[in-house]
Amino acid sequence: MNIILLGPPGAGKGTQARLIENSRGLVQLSTGDMLRAAVAAGSEVGLKAKAVMEAGGLVSDEIVIGIISDRIDEPDCQNGFILDGFPRTLPQAAALEDLLASKNKSLNAVIEMRVDDEKLVERITGRFTCGDCGEGYHDTFRTPKEEGKCDNCGSSNFKRRADDNEETLRTRLLSYYKETSPLIGYYFAKDNLASIDGMADMSEVTNQIETILASA
Ligand code: AP5
Ligand code: MG
Repeated sequence: MNIILLGPPGAGKGTQARLIENSRGLVQLSTGDMLRAAVAAGSEVGLKAKAVMEAGGLVSDEIVIGIISDRIDEPDCQNGFILDGFPRTLPQAAALEDLLASKNKSLNAVIEMRVDDEKLVERITGRFTCGDCGEGYHDTFRTPKEEGKCDNCGSSNFKRRADDNEETLRTRLLSYYKETSPLIGYYFAKDNLASIDGMADMSEVTNQIETILASA
């Protein structure tokens, strides 16, 4: 099963992708995580992406399509994957279609996570992540069970993203509405879109996604 999670910054794509990954044996493919890894490694891609990401813009289609194309060929993706943050432009959606067709794969569902824009600031500015295992947290909505210690791996190495501030979020939202939100209409017209209430509690959001996947 191959699915797309579509939604603005802070919609909960990463949070839900990790949960479905565990429950369904699918692989989370987050282009944001891959690009941040490239930046941290100082690779050629990372050097090109760093300033764009810190400013809240979009990295070039060419770069992200190349990353995804290579990644879905890897053995762990053969049972299926969750695309988190890709595609983000109409050319990326078209390239994905070609890629999947050339590999004899298809999309089972595109899930739009609907959220109120004014709540995104709170979600983004309160987010932190375990730097060792990637588990996601929030200052208010998801705190570690034991303060300062990751529930998943016990690490105390928590990180906040360079682009998680109110000013950059505004630019990220603009990028979303200009470049990415047209994909909602695109997948609706292709009869592949399901929309869920991303404002619900995390577990309720998971239930809504599971219901869609059960009939996909
Ligand atoms: P990316 O990393 O994809 O960032 P994003 O799209 O801005 O999305 P986020 O990761 O901020 O939000 P999320 O939906 O994953 O929310 P989360 O689950 O963490 O991309 C970063 C940058 O990389 C882009 O700006 C761009 O420059 C570049 N890039 C990446 N892909 C690209 C592409 N395809 N093309 C071009 N450029 C690309 O949740 C947020 C917080 O809310 C967390 O703290 C969480 O605990 C909390 N939360 C989650 N769900 C709930 C809930 N239901 N109730 C309460 N709190 C919740
Ligand atoms: Mg994310």
